[in-house]
Amino acid sequence: MIKGVIFDLDGVILSTDEYHYQAWKKLADRLKIPFDREKNNLLRGVSRMESLEIVLGGRKFSDEQKAEFAAEKNETYRALLSEMTPDDVSDDVRNTIKAVKSRGIKTAIGSSSKNTKFILERVGMIDEFDAIADGNDIKKSKPDPEVFLVAAERINLSPSECFVIEDALAGIDAASAGGFVPIAIGDAVKHPAAFKTIKRLSDILTIIDDK
Ligand code: BG6
Ligand code: MG
Repeated sequence: MIKGVIFDLDGVILSTDEYHYQAWKKLADRLKIPFDREKNNLLRGVSRMESLEIVLGGRKFSDEQKAEFAAEKNETYRALLSEMTPDDVSDDVRNTIKAVKSRGIKTAIGSSSKNTKFILERVGMIDEFDAIADGNDIKKSKPDPEVFLVAAERINLSPSECFVIEDALAGIDAASAGGFVPIAIGDAVKHPAAFKTIKRLSDILTIIDDK
C-alpha cells in the first residue's frame, strides 16, 4: 500500500530541466567545450558542482575558476527561473497532485537543487507539498538516497511505503538504493530498475490504484 509520493522537481514537476540545459550550454559555449543534450542527461539529479565536473570533462581549472563557473551557470539559470509564473505548471501536474492528495496519500519534493524553494515560490507551489527536501538539506546528492530519506522522514513514512518519481538515471539509482519504489519518466525510462515507467505524471494514479 503506497502512503506517500516523493516527486523530483526538475523535469518531473516542472520543465526547469530545459533551463538547466540552456544555462550549462551557455557556459560550455563560452568555454568552447562541446555540450549537447545527451551530455546534459548525465547532469540530471546530480549536484551543481558535480555537474560542472561532468561539463568540464576532465579539463583542468583552479577551484576558484570552478566556483566562478558554477556561479555563472547559476546566475543564467536564476535569470530564466525569475521569468517563471504559476502558468508554468501544467494542468496534468496540478490535477495529479490534487488527485494523489484526495486519496489520503502524502506528498513531498525530493530534489538535489538548492533553487527548489525559489522555484516553488515563483510558480506558487511552495505550500503544495507536505514536505520539501532539497539540495540545502543534504551532503550527498543523487545517486545517494539521502534527499529521499530526508523527505520520507519528514512525512513520517518508511521508504517502502513511498513512490519516488524521477526523470534522472541517478534518481532511480538513489530511489532503489534507499528502498523506495522508483517510477521513471522522461530520460529515466531507460533505467532497468524502474518499477514502472510513465509518459505523463497522471499515469501514476493508475499505478497507485493498482498497487
Ligand atoms: C537537480 C537537477 O534537480 O538539481 C540537476 O536535475 C542540477 O541538473 C541539480 O544540477 C542542482 O541544481 P541547482 O539548482 O542547485 O544548481
Ligand atoms: Mg530531475
